[in-house]
Amino acid sequence: MKIIRSIKSMQSFSRQMAAKGKTTAVVPTMGYLHEGHVSLVSRAQKEADVVVTTIFVNPAQFAPSEDLARYPRDEKRDIRLIEAALGKASKNAAIFIPKAEDMYPADFETWVIVEKLTSVLEGARRPTHFRGVTTVVAKLFNIVRPDVAVFGQKDFQQAMVLGRMTRDLGYPIKFIVAPTVREEDGLAKSSRNAYFDEQGRWEAVALYYALQTAREMVKAGISAAGPITREMQAVIRATSPTAEIDYIAFNDAKTLENRTEVSKGTICSLAVRIRGVRLIDNLKLK
Ligand code: PAF
Repeated sequence: MKIIRSIKSMQSFSRQMAAKGKTTAVVPTMGYLHEGHVSLVSRAQKEADVVVTTIFVNPAQFAPSEDLARYPRDEKRDIRLIEAALGKASKNAAIFIPKAEDMYPADFETWVIVEKLTSVLEGARRPTHFRGVTTVVAKLFNIVRPDVAVFGQKDFQQAMVLGRMTRDLGYPIKFIVAPTVREEDGLAKSSRNAYFDEQGRWEAVALYYALQTAREMVKAGISAAGPITREMQAVIRATSPTAEIDYIAFNDAKTLENRTEVSKGTICSLAVRIRGVRLIDNLKLK
């Protein structure tokens, strides 16, 4: 497997692959990989001849108050995990690990912005976050020139925003959103789970319990968002007494329009701070 650290070398690798008639799938990540990422890499392998995983803790998507310096990193382990996931196919694979100063030169000033889809949920709470995500992914697309890109459903708004960007900017890329991978107790896999001590880890399952409660209520015929939200809040407090609920929201899964009634295509998403760690999760309810 090739470890590529410069933009020029990545571009030349992509050109070589294209010249050989090989298709490429990209899996953009911020590293500190877990089974969720591994599932994206495995999916990418099924979709194309060459898999390029990118590892870049993107400063542009962190607000000054957020955890950029603290974000967990373990490059050697990431490389091992990707190699193990790809097996023999790692011969044809590459990992692109660019430097921040190459991705964002000192006088960098060009941004890619998806306007409306980023005005709600995570975008409303983290106003500069998505512009950082779309800009870095557009850059990665331009450098890697993939035929396929794979993202995870856990960050469903991110996947929607990037899907819209891909379509709007006319990237000739097959855009795949792969299912969330969960721990045995239901907690969505996330690099941020590494922040938890044992107690926090137990409490973190609160988000999943809340989403399951919503699903059960909808199955039982309750569709009003109000009572479902109250029950979800109660479940979260019972599981994690100090949890701070940022939002519990019901939206149309295609447009992100707010829903006060759960109907076909409604997705429930939530953001909760458990012992200081902010987690997000979501579930399509109908
Ligand atoms: O989901 C992530 O890890 C990041 O937001 C992404 C898509 C790699 C962009 O930095």
